[in-house]
Amino acid sequence: MPALELRGVGKRYGGVVALDDVGLAVAAGEVVGLVGENGAGKSTLLRVLAGEVPPDAGTLVIGGVQRAGFGGPRAARAAGVRVVHQEPELVGSLTVAENLFLGAVGAASTGRRVVRWSGLYAAAAREFARHGLGAELDPRTPVERLSPARRQLVEVVKALRERPAVLALDEPTAALAEDDTDRLLAVVERLAAGGVAIVYVSHRLREVRRVADRIAVLRDGVLVADEPADAVSDADLVRRMVGRALAAAPAWTRPGPERLRVEGLCTRRLRDVSLSVRRGEILGVAGLVGAGRSALARALFGAAPITAGRITVDGEPVRPAGPRAALDAGIALTPEDRLADGLVLDRGVRENLTLSVLRRLTVARFVRVGEQRRVASGLATSLRIRAGSLDAPVNTLSGGNQQKVVVGRALSTDPRVLVLDDPTRGVDVGAKAELHRIVRERADRGMAVVLISSELPELLAVADRILVLAGGRVTGELTRAEATEEKLLALALPGSS
Ligand SMILES: Nc1ncnc2c1ncn2[C@@H]1O[C@H](COP(=O)(O)OP(=O)(O)OP(=O)(O)O)[C@@H](O)[C@H]1O
Ligand SMILES: [Mg+2]
Repeated sequence: MPALELRGVGKRYGGVVALDDVGLAVAAGEVVGLVGENGAGKSTLLRVLAGEVPPDAGTLVIGGVQRAGFGGPRAARAAGVRVVHQEPELVGSLTVAENLFLGAVGAASTGRRVVRWSGLYAAAAREFARHGLGAELDPRTPVERLSPARRQLVEVVKALRERPAVLALDEPTAALAEDDTDRLLAVVERLAAGGVAIVYVSHRLREVRRVADRIAVLRDGVLVADEPADAVSDADLVRRMVGRALAAAPAWTRPGPERLRVEGLCTRRLRDVSLSVRRGEILGVAGLVGAGRSALARALFGAAPITAGRITVDGEPVRPAGPRAALDAGIALTPEDRLADGLVLDRGVRENLTLSVLRRLTVARFVRVGEQRRVASGLATSLRIRAGSLDAPVNTLSGGNQQKVVVGRALSTDPRVLVLDDPTRGVDVGAKAELHRIVRERADRGMAVVLISSELPELLAVADRILVLAGGRVTGELTRAEATEEKLLALALPGSS
């Protein structure tokens, strides 16, 4: 008897069919990997499971008990189902410990509803330790001060607090670098061994293969495959997800003269960072979380104060005093955290795509809407952004499609230097290949690209050279020909400087 079974589940949003007659069963101790293109319906399925989105059709069977309805989030929890969503849900201003026990603070409080803080912190530390996590997670830190990776670990531990029988994870490693990814996958493996039924959603096939017993593929809301993991090849999976084979990464062309030069850059997080990127070149940046990758992106974009060092673009010194100045100097950034810095969620796709070029599109305080629509639809087409319409609010897009909007907005400025901070996070394999092609094409037209990524395979496939950071310093640089995952990891580990 499966721990969890979905039968004939359907969900529509207006004209969009997000789920169509989906059936899926997961046994206790089993891990089912759920994959599919951006917008295929994966997150919708998990929201249905969590009792947050009422399906239009179908039934749910948990532990052999058929439920007439899915109830609400509470009913789902009471039935032992927990879902870790794709987008963070923690309260930024509260501490790690408070978030962990949110809604259950009573557990650590006295009879008079006064929280015993020391008890709460100790209880939080125990929760982390239980899963072999958290040596570096201080329960007293406000969540807004944590990196996305750390926040993600807190989300997962929070979901596990009530020891669920069914756990669904929506792209839990999208924000994580290799070391944290390993830790998280180990947690998943341990939970499965302990009898938890797990649904694992990810675009990273390698991870899915590591943990999943079966792999299910959603395509346009339809479950098109559900097979033992070792019975399907990656190529099979991609074909079923995307409906076509993927183009290989485009060939590298000869770079031109130096475009971006950074010398002895210091900020609060960076120590003496120097690098150079030529026109037509893609410089990859690798490093573990906290290594200074995003600090470098922010410094280049004028979003972090520079205490020493020099940045030049085409030989001219630039000292971006802020993002506006950086854009004026021809430097664009796609930020790491699309929700915090990237998107205006309740505004439409068109507006979000053209936010950085609004000045150019505005005459006498009126936005030239026709022109704006033309720019936006060009970007939406080339990035294959899937949305109900160009005016659909960005928060109705799937996670991967939101990410494409962030990248589109940076491209809209046609920058001289493009800094991409983990741009393919949550982007499906097909769209990822597409994005790599677009970035390469822009580079070929003279752009200098700095590509930060927590996925080493992505850097190895796309970057011409790879710079490695650890502890805010450059610990090495390898050409594409020299680089291997092992060498990059060795340079990225703390203590390698
Ligand atoms: N609240 C909503 N309103 C309108 N449409 C929605 C809403 N939520 C989801 N959709 C649509 O439902 C479809 C499925 O979205 P879903 O988020 O489930 O995709 P996904 O498989 O999780 O994609 P990704 O890999 O990008 O996260 C998409 O076309 C999306 O635009
Ligand atoms: Mg999703």
